[in-house]
Formats: sequence, C-alpha cells, structure tokens
Amino acid sequence: MRIFFFFVFIIFSCSKKKELSGELDQKVQRILSRMTLEEKVGQMTQINLTVIAKGPNKWKSKFPLEINLKRAKKALIDYKIGSVLNTINNTALSPEVWYETISLIQKYAMDSTRLKIPVIYGIDAVHGTTYTDGATMFPQQITTAASWNPENAYNMAMVCAYETRASGIPWNFSPVLDLGTDPRFPRQFETFGEDPYVVKEFGNAMIKGYQGLNNNVLDKYKVATCVKHFVGYHPTISGKDRTPAYIPDHVLKEYHIEPFREAINLGAKSIMINSGLINGKPVHADYNLITNVLRNELGFEGVILTDWEDINNLHSRDKVAKSIKEAIKIAINAGIDMSMVPYDYEVFCKNLIDLVNEGEVRMSRINDAVERILKLKMELDLFNVPITNYQDYDNFGSKKYSKLAYNAASEAITLLKNKDDLLPIKINNKTKILITGPNGNNMRTLNGAWTYSWQGEKTDQFASNFNTIYEAFSNTYGEKYVKYLPGVSYIDDGQYFEMKEVDINKVVLEAKNSDYVILCLGENTYTEKPGDLNDLTLHKLQLKLAKEIAKTGKPIVLILNLGRPRLITDIQPLMKSIINIYLPGNFGADALVDIVSGKVNPSGKLPYSYPAFPNSLLTYYHKPSDVQNNNQGAYNYVGQVNNLYDFGYGLSYSEFKYSNMILNKVEYSESDTILMTVNLKNISEIPGYETIQVYSSDLFASITPDVKRLRRFSKVYLKGGEEKIINFTLPINELAFVNYNNEYVLEPGKFKISINNLSQEITVK
Ligand code: BGC
Repeated sequence: MRIFFFFVFIIFSCSKKKELSGELDQKVQRILSRMTLEEKVGQMTQINLTVIAKGPNKWKSKFPLEINLKRAKKALIDYKIGSVLNTINNTALSPEVWYETISLIQKYAMDSTRLKIPVIYGIDAVHGTTYTDGATMFPQQITTAASWNPENAYNMAMVCAYETRASGIPWNFSPVLDLGTDPRFPRQFETFGEDPYVVKEFGNAMIKGYQGLNNNVLDKYKVATCVKHFVGYHPTISGKDRTPAYIPDHVLKEYHIEPFREAINLGAKSIMINSGLINGKPVHADYNLITNVLRNELGFEGVILTDWEDINNLHSRDKVAKSIKEAIKIAINAGIDMSMVPYDYEVFCKNLIDLVNEGEVRMSRINDAVERILKLKMELDLFNVPITNYQDYDNFGSKKYSKLAYNAASEAITLLKNKDDLLPIKINNKTKILITGPNGNNMRTLNGAWTYSWQGEKTDQFASNFNTIYEAFSNTYGEKYVKYLPGVSYIDDGQYFEMKEVDINKVVLEAKNSDYVILCLGENTYTEKPGDLNDLTLHKLQLKLAKEIAKTGKPIVLILNLGRPRLITDIQPLMKSIINIYLPGNFGADALVDIVSGKVNPSGKLPYSYPAFPNSLLTYYHKPSDVQNNNQGAYNYVGQVNNLYDFGYGLSYSEFKYSNMILNKVEYSESDTILMTVNLKNISEIPGYETIQVYSSDLFASITPDVKRLRRFSKVYLKGGEEKIINFTLPINELAFVNYNNEYVLEPGKFKISINNLSQEITVK
C-alpha cells in the first residue's frame, strides 16, 4: 500500500512539475517576445562585481565595498547585463554586505529597466560559502571523496546551498566533476579524485544537496548548480593549468563525460565549459562538444556558461580567432549561452549585436540562449524574490553545520602507515608532543584555496576561531605538554611554493626532549595557474626537516596536509606513522587529533594513486603494459605500479577479514545482473568502518582493457568481532566500454570480479 501511494505521489509530482515547467516556458516566451536584441545580449553577459564597484579601476575596488552608481547604471540599465559574479578584491564579505549589495543590483536591474528582469548572481562556493564571512567550511572535494561516503558530499552541498542563499546568492559554480587524474595539475583537490565512478557518485550527492532531493530550486534554501568544467580539463600534457590535452573521443566519453551525463540526468541547472584545449581545439570553440555532444547527445537543457574570459582567450591566447569579434562568433555559434566576460562587457555586447545584425550569429541562437537564462531565473523564483534575506537563515554558521563538517573530515582522514601500532597515542598527562612543520599551526593550509579568497591566503584572518593542528593537540593533550616549532615555513609573498628555514636545529633539540613528533608537512594553498608546479617532490627543506628529526630516533607521525600527493618517497621509511589529512577544512585539526588519540577510528581511503616517483604517474585503471617491475631502491611499497600507496588504500585501527564472496552465476547474458555477497568480519575488538570496493577486470577485449575498474563501493560499520554479509548488485551492461566508433559495447568473454583479496571469474555470453 505504502509503495502504491509512493508511486501515486511520484506520478503526481512529476506531472505537477511538467505543468509548472510548461507554465514557465510560456512566461519565458512572453518575455522573450518583447525583448530587443540589446536586451537579449545583455542577458547573455556576465560581469565581475569589481566592474560596478567603487574603486580605481574595473579590477580593483575600494574597501569596504560600495556600488559605484554611475558604473552600475551603465552596466545594468544601459547594457542590461543579466548576471554578476564574484566578490571584490578577492575577499569574503559579511551576509549583511552581500544583502545590501545584491539588493542594490536588483534594484537597478528591476526598477529602472523596461522588462524588470532580475540579475542572476553567481559565485564559487566549492567547499562551503567561500566568500562569506562566518560560513561553514567543509573539507575540499578531494577530502570528501576520501571518506568514501557520498552523504558527506550531500551534507556539504546542503549546508553550502543554505549559507549561499543566506548570502543572497542563488547560483553556485560547483561541483567540479573533472577527473583528478594527474597530481601535477593544480586543481586535483577540487575534484573527487581519479575514478569516474567515485566522481559520479559524489557528484550526484552534491547536486542533490545543492538543488534539493526533488530538484526544486524555488526553495529558498537551495541553489542552482553549475557543474564544471565540461570536459577533459585535467589530463594535460604538461600537467599545468589551461594547457593542451590530447584525449581520444572514446576515452573522453567513457571516463570524462560519464559523470556529466549523470549530473545532467539529475537535472543540473547549468554547466561551465573547460578553459583548456582538447586535441588542439579550445573547448569554447568546439561546436561538436558543446552542441552535438552536450546539447544533443546528452540532452542538456540548462544554461551553458563560459569560464573566466574564455571567449577572449580564443583570440588572445589560443589564436583560433583573428579578433575578439570572431572569437565571440565562434563561441556563441558553438553553443555558449552566457559569457563570463567578465570585464569588457561593452566589447562583448557591441560585437555580439553587430554579429547578429550582420547575419553571422542567427537570432534563433540568441533566443535559444536567452530562453534558457530566463528559465533559470524563473526556476530560482528571482522575478518574485530577487534576493533572499540573511535574517531568514538562523542556521547560518551553526553548531549543527559545524558538526557535519567535522564528521566529513573525521571520515576522510586516511591512515597510510602505522608501524608497530604506534597510533593511537593515548591521552596521558605526561606525554610530551612536539608539533612541527610549516603546516602545523595555521588555518590556511587546512582549508586550501577557495576559502575566504580565491587563493586562500586570507584564511588565518577569517578563521581564527577554529583550531590549527597545534591548537587541537594542545586542547587534547594539554597545553603544558604540547609544543610548536615550525622548523621551516612558507614565504608569504605570493611565491606559494617557496620556503625558508626557520629553526631546524631547535626542532631537533626539542624532538630529543619529546615522546612523539607530529611532523606537519605538505603544501601552501593554491589553485589554477598560481598552483602550476615544476617538481612534484615535496620541498627539499621539508624533506630536510624530516630527515634531521628522524636522526633523533624519536617516533614521528607524518601528517600530510596537501591538495595533491607530493612525493615523499625519500622520507617514508623514516616515519613510523603517516596520516593524509588532505585539505580537511576548519574542523580538520579537531578530527585529526581525535584520530591520533583514538577517539575516532580512521576510515578514509585514498581517492587517488599516491605515486612514489615523478616519472610513474598512473591512475589505478592503467593498461597491463603499464605495470613495471623495476622498483628502484629498497622502499617499502604498497603499490604495484611504483605507487607508494594505491588508490583505495587506507588503514584502520580495526582489522577486517573478507571471506565467502559468492556470485549468483558464472555465466551471464548482457541483460543479466550480478548479485553478489561477501562476508566481512571485524576480527579486532575495536569497532570501525570499512569500505568494501568491488572491481571488475575485462580479461580480453578489442581495445586493451584496463587492469581493473571500480564498479561499486559501500562503507559499513562493524562492532568488534562482528561479521556482516554485504550485498551488491551490478548489471552486466555496466561492464561495457567505449570502442573506436564511440559506442558502448559489451564484448562477450571472461571477466574477473574482485573484492579485496577475493575474486571470481565469470563469462559474459
Ligand atoms: C575557474 C572556474 C571558476 C571561475 C569563476 C575560473 O578561473 O576556472 O572554476 O568558476 O573562475 O570564478
């Protein structure tokens, strides 16, 4: 009975939605039919907030923020600009200031224009509401993925949607569904890691958190997502941001496009285009990818937005357009709906108007773009509620939300090594702990970029209420017993990767006096071009610090606080324990100390392969011929392909044993589903979580198959001594791959299904 009502409810709400969507379409058409070309082009234009703020120029604003009335009038009334993004001077603002600012923008857009179309304000709030003082900062996406629990992604997005709306902003340029395949690339931390299935699962959860379980962004606690960056942004040849990638079509489809397909099916409202080039073609100029694939094949109906200044880049950087005007023509004709201009809007608007008048861009293309933009504004209810008021958001920055951010961090932090069960370190008043390393006493590196500013350099100013690693240890083990000495530190002049020696000798003396050394190494904050790297190895001064301390013979717990796996191969054998905390956010240090002290049992697992060498950077789904058996040196590898640690690896204080993997058949047809079970037992006395990972290997195929692919995962809790039977279902057609005709095919033959150390061969007929 209950099921019946459920179905009736679904049918009812679906038809209601259709009706609403039909009504919206009619409203959109009514407005569109009254619009001039100038008004339409204005809607397709997005400008940076600095352009209409008071200040010396369009890049730099005066602080505190004030809208420059003359500039705002010109942009919003004369040019009828439809969208504004970002903050001023790269800094977080209070919810009140956001409210006043966006209210004023809406006043211009709605009171003084003919059609009273509200502006849609967009922002990057990627692990919390980046640009709002007091917002809840969760772990970054890479950290969340390491929790192997998509609920954490849902929670982050749900809180972020709430707090972004509390800041008066309805549109968020998140989540990132790029595959973080290469640790050299400066934005790996913004992804859910290297695996397409993990990206898809976490991406889905995040979209539900942002847009709501019933995908209703009319709700004043939800935001419209802007999924990015479509597509193939990360695997560049150079490993540097916005440089060329060469990706065959079938690879693009099977690995990179797949997570976007799912996001589109879930109803993601907008998509941002990849700033880079694939196979020599800038994606912003690629009609095939934007229109044929994204619009037609994937059926995406929402708004397609450029990335920062990327139409200009077709001319100025990528040289596929002889002029800015030609660049605009190429991009709009390729299928772009809105241009993140974001400064020279007059040039964009005038040229686009000319192009339409000259017949170079068809009016139908313009109408198509504007329809989608107006529809998004209506779906967000901006015509009725152009701004939400922070006073209606009592949960903003609440304890309840902090707890969710803490939980995510505590589930993600990954124990990589624990020789002789060094950890946990019991809380005992006499234990002397030395915290050292450049990441030991600041909030900045815990959070990474996109935290109160683009590059994250202002975090210590905004997040002083939260605990650094040193502070969290002092709170737990007693101020008297915990000391901090940096040893080496970052040089804070914009050279994010440079370091200086501070007091290595003092650290060594102090280490001799301590029972444990908590060595906090890693990276400073960065994203995009400023994060481009020439050497993946951890900075030599950090390695020096580690080696000097190791000479004392004191047990060292290495804490890795980084956005990507920097090479630590030289010092790994010298460390008794290693914990990867990634970028765990404002509550990361509290979560870390709870793991070190044993209050929390670690359960994170790597969402990427942790390489051992700079010339051995492979994802776990490499080809058989990638496997090398020439490990150089006598290091203590866990991995098979010169990885220091494999994808999916992570220790617990509990010990788990897998047994009795059973599949329902040995021969399957294409329409069958594998039903499998496996027994998992916690053979220790310590309760804990384990993530069961199901992999498949296609043993022979017409395109060399990957050694394995993750197909399912599930995180379960087991009390000490407890045994559970875990079930998985896997439709056989999910074992298909994309062939050279760019089609999914399932070739008959043998496959292997494996869970941990167990596996079974099956035949697909
Ligand atoms: C980044 C995007 C971001 C946009 C707006 C670009 O530089 O690549 O990820 O959404 O700026 O801030």
